[in-house]
Amino acid sequence: MLQLEGVNKVFKNNGSFIHVLKDIDFTVNSGEFFCIVGPSGCGKTTLLRSIGGYEKISGGQILIDGKKITEPGIDRVMVFQSFEQLFSWKTVKENIEYPLKITGVSKQKRNEYVRKYVKMMGLEGFENYYPHQLSGGMKQRTALARALALNPEILLMDEPFANLDAQTREVLQKELLKIWQELKPTIIFVTHAIDEAIILADRILVMSKQGRIKTIIESHLERPRRPSMKGFSAMWDILYSLLGSDDNP
Ligand SMILES: Nc1ncnc2c1ncn2[C@@H]1O[C@H](COP(=O)(O)OP(=O)(O)OP(=O)(O)O)[C@@H](O)[C@H]1O
Ligand SMILES: [Mg+2]
Repeated sequence: MLQLEGVNKVFKNNGSFIHVLKDIDFTVNSGEFFCIVGPSGCGKTTLLRSIGGYEKISGGQILIDGKKITEPGIDRVMVFQSFEQLFSWKTVKENIEYPLKITGVSKQKRNEYVRKYVKMMGLEGFENYYPHQLSGGMKQRTALARALALNPEILLMDEPFANLDAQTREVLQKELLKIWQELKPTIIFVTHAIDEAIILADRILVMSKQGRIKTIIESHLERPRRPSMKGFSAMWDILYSLLGSDDNP
């Protein structure tokens, strides 16, 4: 279980302070698919990086199974929006293998994991390609395979499909859900897209522009979810109006 208790983050920028995260309190259960939406600049990436242990918080605490996080760990892995997250000088296989290598996984196990996740992400035949030889979707599949191969307890995803065309995005959403149902990691997924949050999440946290939690919405829609299904558009309307109204400081 992941717990955030009174989390605050203040950045110092050229002598002035910017208070980004304000009194963030929430809990994510193990195996839950948890989405975060909010306007640009409200602190979503900062929040994700703080959970990842890459950002030192200014107040409060973040706990995993009751243990306070102070630094990155192999129980948490991040996947980003940018296609540049892969090592450009390494092949698909080498990209997936690299974190396993530095965490001391044996050559035999590495090969086994690479095979498994290459297959799972539909990258067979592309193992020896370099990132510049791949499409955007394939790059994101490689980044996802690399993250999954580490078998993290918590997968932190920062708008991972934002740069993809609508069709590729839909395919990857489906595949991510399939993998999640099979492996059941906890997923914390940041997105700008309301539909994406509704298609994926068990719960959706809405942040205000000012870096506070506005609300957390629970979704009981049956999976697989489609925009045409009952309840989808009602939830869309609620999220849309929550994201549009930002009067509370
Ligand atoms: N390293 C940093 N130093 C100083 N300020 C920062 C730093 N990182 C982020 N910020 C500031 O914190 C605020 C929140 O940034 P963050 O990237 O978390 O927002 P976001 O919600 O992810 O936005 P977007 O939706 O555009 O990705 C912004 O005002 C940003 O300028
Ligand atoms: Mg961001």
